[in-house]
Amino acid sequence: MSLKHGMLPVLCSVALVGSGCGASTTDTDAGVDAGAPLGPGASLKCDSSGKNAWDTYGVNAFVAVNEAIFANVGAESTAHGTTNLGNSFSKIGSGTPASTADSAATFKGKLAAFLVYAYGGPASITYTDHVTYTGPQNMTGAHVGLNITSAQYDYFVSNIVVPALTSNGVPAGAGGASAPNDVSSCFAPILVDAAFKASIVGK
Ligand code: HEM
Repeated sequence: MSLKHGMLPVLCSVALVGSGCGASTTDTDAGVDAGAPLGPGASLKCDSSGKNAWDTYGVNAFVAVNEAIFANVGAESTAHGTTNLGNSFSKIGSGTPASTADSAATFKGKLAAFLVYAYGGPASITYTDHVTYTGPQNMTGAHVGLNITSAQYDYFVSNIVVPALTSNGVPAGAGGASAPNDVSSCFAPILVDAAFKASIVGK
């Protein structure tokens, strides 16, 4: 399925509805969280478009990528058990530790909200379950007690998140306008940022 910007209105009313139901360059655009700060990825420019990830890919792509992240975690668990990601995902919904209190459905909505916000979209979104979720979340609080290792984090980014992007049409070419690498230009910098990683690992 193509995930080009032109498809946004198709899914906007049924899949994930941002405050402005679509992409926005600034928070002062009509209907899109006026006055709210934009996330750290808002200023990143995708090779393919010269615009940030939210403005380039929009609502249905973010839904698809978010769903793919969860599908990839499931496939990883089936294929390799806890070898590469540890056992924290098996604790979802258990409440032990407290950071796992949210159900899988709530986790999915909150991750979507985080991703939308982090990459330049509105701070709140209504997901496919018609529940409104707000980003950003406190990443340290969300992972306290999970003892996620640096290796698990790196594996998650490389083997779960990046494939979720590329399998949904985000290019990972050599770079530049002729062979765009949107993974590197407008998605990866947030996740490989040392301070961001440190907010999740070892908590
Ligand atoms: C790319 C870096 C990551 C991001 C952006 C991220 C994002 C999030 C967000 C937004 C939440 C809050 C969800 C909620 O409160 O329900 C969360 C919780 C969680 N994360 Fe992460 N995460 C990352 C890395 C990881 C890794 C590497 C693991 C495991 C190996 C992990 C496992 C979990 C678990 C188990 C929860 C608790 C879910 C629950 O409440 O039941 N995360 N994460």
